[in-house]
Amino acid sequence: MTAEPVAIEDSIESDRPVLLELFGQAVRASYPDLARMTRSEARDRIEAQWAWYREQGGHVRVTRAPGGGVSACCWSLPTHHPVTGVREWFIVILAVDPGHRRQGLGRLLLDDARNEARKVGIHRLRLFTHTANVAAHSLYREAGFEEATVELVLDGEESRG
Ligand SMILES: CC(C)(COP(=O)(O)OP(=O)(O)OC[C@H]1O[C@@H](n2cnc3c(N)ncnc32)[C@H](O)[C@@H]1OP(=O)(O)O)[C@@H](O)C(=O)NCCC(=O)NCCS
Repeated sequence: MTAEPVAIEDSIESDRPVLLELFGQAVRASYPDLARMTRSEARDRIEAQWAWYREQGGHVRVTRAPGGGVSACCWSLPTHHPVTGVREWFIVILAVDPGHRRQGLGRLLLDDARNEARKVGIHRLRLFTHTANVAAHSLYREAGFEEATVELVLDGEESRG
């Protein structure tokens, strides 16, 4: 028997709480700066950023488990390279619910983002992830991404506001 293909759809308003939870898990893995915030501070920050990115054309695509709950999500948006001005598709967050990992959902949503980008004539994707995130690195490399820049951070007391 062949497994049903997994459907990908735009998220809906009632997905918001679970999306914020998944985003929170993913950003902790990718942006250690956020690890210093409390869960609720991080959640507020993500929500504010999400609202802002939405205005710039950002959207969240999801896959669903049989009961209808979100099993994985990808938040992305069209943007431009900050210096060259070349149009790019920026993947803000890709996150798979821990109970649904290693089932191909991450790769599926990544390919979906690539298709979304192509539809509007964008062929370059960009994302950030932490050097220690082995699962993400493996997934992105396997999907054809190559390391392009290394981010260096000077984290003195004076920069902590
Ligand atoms: C990274 C993440 C999105 C991968 O999602 P996933 O649905 O489990 O990945 P897939 O099943 O599509 O895996 C595709 C390939 O990626 C690689 N991969 C995925 N997870 C891996 C892991 N834990 N270890 C090693 N390789 C891994 C493998 O090559 C895998 O192919 P295979 O299963 O045939 O070996 C998921 O682990 C996750 O949500 N992590 C927490 C949030 C996060 O770090 N997000 C990325 C940063 S924004």
